[in-house]
Order: sequence, then structure tokens, then C-alpha cells
Amino acid sequence: MESSETPKQEWKADNYARHAHFVPALGAPVLELLAPRPGERILDLGCGDGVLTEKIAAAGATVVGVDAAPEMIAAAQARGLDARVCAGEKLAFASEFDAVFSNAALHWMKSAPDAVIAGVKRALKPGGRFVAEMGGHGCVAAIIVSIVATLERRGVTGAAAGIPWYFPTVNDYRARLEAAGFRVDYIELIPRPTPLPTNMAGWLELFGQPLFNRLPPSERQDAIAETVERLKPVLCDETGRWTGDYIRLRFKAHAP
Ligand SMILES: C[S@@+](CC[C@H](N)C(=O)[O-])C[C@H]1O[C@@H](n2cnc3c(N)ncnc32)[C@H](O)[C@@H]1O
Repeated sequence: MESSETPKQEWKADNYARHAHFVPALGAPVLELLAPRPGERILDLGCGDGVLTEKIAAAGATVVGVDAAPEMIAAAQARGLDARVCAGEKLAFASEFDAVFSNAALHWMKSAPDAVIAGVKRALKPGGRFVAEMGGHGCVAAIIVSIVATLERRGVTGAAAGIPWYFPTVNDYRARLEAAGFRVDYIELIPRPTPLPTNMAGWLELFGQPLFNRLPPSERQDAIAETVERLKPVLCDETGRWTGDYIRLRFKAHAP
């Protein structure tokens, strides 16, 4: 396959809940950093199926969740949340939120990170805060190398360029926040080896979908199995438990 174009990720709420319930479950530290207060108006950017959005609402804040995936928004709405389909690159709110929160979503907004940050800044009231966690530099490095090796062996050219995630360094993301007018209060890269609730094949089927979809459908299951085999010596322990080599970028910034 010659094209370097990467097919888009499709988000399915049931698959997400099965293979990735650890994502919101591990959101406690960033929620703590947000410290939502009763009466605040908070935007949850890339809210997914609304597990964390619901926790912010439970703290007494009024929350609006936005996400680009209609299926995920439907799942969030089913929890009774104010959730709306909207791409992070096209936020159209103006000076209405005390805080913008985001967990595990900003690294999917790879094509235009500055447009996302600018939209967040516009959405905040003066003094409002932007608190988020996303994949950071080096996140799932072994997994990426293994996927790229599988795809290239099967004739996909430029597979590395098609990686759908943006995993920035501290310096990169701090510079982008400051260029948009934010003051950065805290920013850190945090290695977080993450036990996978199912297995590596489940993780690859869910999150690696845009990459494996570059292969003909008949080859995808074999390609996933090949990738799993390559990762076994480094990410699977002696009891058969898989751990993802996650690194998070967590930060808190405010609009002056
Ligand atoms: C790993 S999930 C995280 C969901 C939720 N924040 C959580 O902690 O469970 C990533 C979410 O980002 C959303 N997303 C990806 N690209 C997006 C974009 N460009 N604009 C808005 N949401 C996006 C996906 O639809 C998905 O629901």
C-alpha cells in the first residue's frame, strides 16, 4: 500500500468500556488537580462516554462534555449529561467556563494542537484554568515500534508517519500553551506502566485501528497477532498479564 493517509479511528462505546475502562479509572490524579467546586461551569473536552464528566458533575459543578464521536456522546447523554458532538479543533465557546478539563483525548487531536489550545483559551473566563492529562513523549513506544514493524513488513510504506497520536514533550506543550497566552502552573511527564484489563490484542484492535486499517481486512487479524508476538517478551509478564508502556503529560495552566 503506497498511501501515507491514515484511516480515521472509529469510537464505539461498548468496545471502549470493555477494553479501556482503565482510562477514566486512572483519571483520579488529574481530577484531583482540577479540584472542581460547586457552582463552577466546566467543559470536559474529549469527554468520551462521560465516566469522568459524571464525576465532575457529582462535585457540584455544571459540566458540558464535548467529543467528536457521536457514539461516545450518545453514551454520555445516556448518563443524563449535557454532552455535545463537537471537534476539539472547532470549539465555539466564548468566555463561559471556569475550567476546561481533558483526560486522554488531546493526543488524538494531532492535526491542529494549536487550534485546540486556542479554542480552550477562548472558552475560558479570565482567570479560568486548563487542566489536562494526555499521552506524553515516549508513550506506548514499544507498541508503536512493533506496529510499524508489522505494517512495514507487510508492505505499508511510511507507517511511522501515519501514527495517529501526538505525544508532546514538556517543552513543546509548554511553549504552545504560552504562545496561546496561558500561564503554566505545573507540567510534568509521568511514566505510568498500565495493566491492560483484557490483553494486547484487545488494546491493538481498539486503539491501533487507524493503523491496522491500512491493511486489507483479510490481513488485519494476522497482523495483530504478529504484533502481539513481538511485544510478548517486553510487555507480557510470566503470568500472562499485559502492561502498556504509558507515559502521561499532566498539566495545569491558567488564562491571565
Ligand atoms: C481515550 S478516549 C478518552 C475519553 C474520556 N476523556 C475518558 O477519560 O474516558 C479519547 C476520546 O477523544 C475523542 N476525540 C478524539 N479526537 C477528537 C477530536 N478531534 N475532537 C474531540 N474529541 C476527540 C474520542 O472520540 C474519544 O472519545
